[in-house]
Amino acid sequence: MRQVKPDVFEVGAIDWDRRLFDEIVPLPDGTSYNSYLIKGSEKTALIDTVDPPKCDVLLTNLAEMGITKIDYVISHHAEQDHSGSLPDVLAIFPDAKLVTNNKCKGMLIDLLEIDEQRFMVVEDAQEISLGNKTLKFILTPWVHWPETMCTYLREDKILFSCDFFGSHLATTDLFAVDIDKVLECNKRYYAEIMMPFRTIITKNIEKIKPLDIDIIAPSHGPLYNEPKLIIDAYKKWIDENDVANKVIVAYVSMHGSTRKMVDHLVTALMNRGIGVQQFDLVTADVGKLAIETVDAAGIVLASPTFLTALHPAAAYAAFLVNALRPKTKYMAFMGSFGWAGKVLDQLKQMLSTTKAELLEPLVIKGVPKADDYTKIDQLADKIAEKHKEFVKV
Ligand code: FEO
Repeated sequence: MRQVKPDVFEVGAIDWDRRLFDEIVPLPDGTSYNSYLIKGSEKTALIDTVDPPKCDVLLTNLAEMGITKIDYVISHHAEQDHSGSLPDVLAIFPDAKLVTNNKCKGMLIDLLEIDEQRFMVVEDAQEISLGNKTLKFILTPWVHWPETMCTYLREDKILFSCDFFGSHLATTDLFAVDIDKVLECNKRYYAEIMMPFRTIITKNIEKIKPLDIDIIAPSHGPLYNEPKLIIDAYKKWIDENDVANKVIVAYVSMHGSTRKMVDHLVTALMNRGIGVQQFDLVTADVGKLAIETVDAAGIVLASPTFLTALHPAAAYAAFLVNALRPKTKYMAFMGSFGWAGKVLDQLKQMLSTTKAELLEPLVIKGVPKADDYTKIDQLADKIAEKHKEFVKV
């Protein structure tokens, strides 16, 4: 248990050892499931719970604080890392009302079979009083599911934002102290689950703008007592016109031909003053790759033909880029083949949702020859042109 402000406590759990989320998202720094207890002069509220394997931590915290009655359990989001312990909490506090919006209610019934009688459905901007403290509910859909919402504690100027502004970081720091580290973790988190919804995030940031916020208290990672820091970072990440002078070169090579193409391209780009982040897709941390997609001006995918198609590691990367929908302005493909294949047709299908311009692909037979290196230089020239067009100096 950690005190945020008088009568406001963080009572959730730190998960130091978790290394994977949703069975795909790497967690190099662990995570936390923040749950907040607010003791008003008349009523007590609990905001969100924790992932079920950590339920005992939450219940122990509440027991050690001598909490015998909770009036409202507020559920911001139906994903189980926050909702999964609701059944246990509701069983221990049988008089508690489960407060959420109508969409979240349906999802909680579907996912956790919670009794419909336990719910108190709230609308956007509705308030409930705890006596000397007031909770205002703000619907903020698609950060990152359709039912997500936030709660604003008026008297203490705290915005409880659930996943919105969160970061996967296990730390004993209640508030963000190592700012660079926290922002890196937050950027990773944004890239992995928020980025596809950045248009709606823009609207949600506008929606919270009128609030006087001293503290942002997310459901993962440390809290922010300088909210501007994280709000400004989000604004930069969602700005479609703010791309960096940077290219992601993500490649896989089976026998070295594609690797030679990559080596030549990376040098050619460097010589043209363009920053490169190179990833070997066989060993890369896909989270780091995702982070770079937040603001890279372009992505070059390089793959040999495997059987008749993209190498599976490259196909996985293309799938991720298509799913994350970064603001990247252009994409390029290059690779080597042995006899034949359908690589380009497959790639176009896999990138169907991206709005990035697909530059003329460069596919060569066997190892690159002098003529092929010239074509790689031409690709570097084309990329340099794109950077002059899109990157602000
Ligand atoms: Fe942290 Fe979308 O759950």
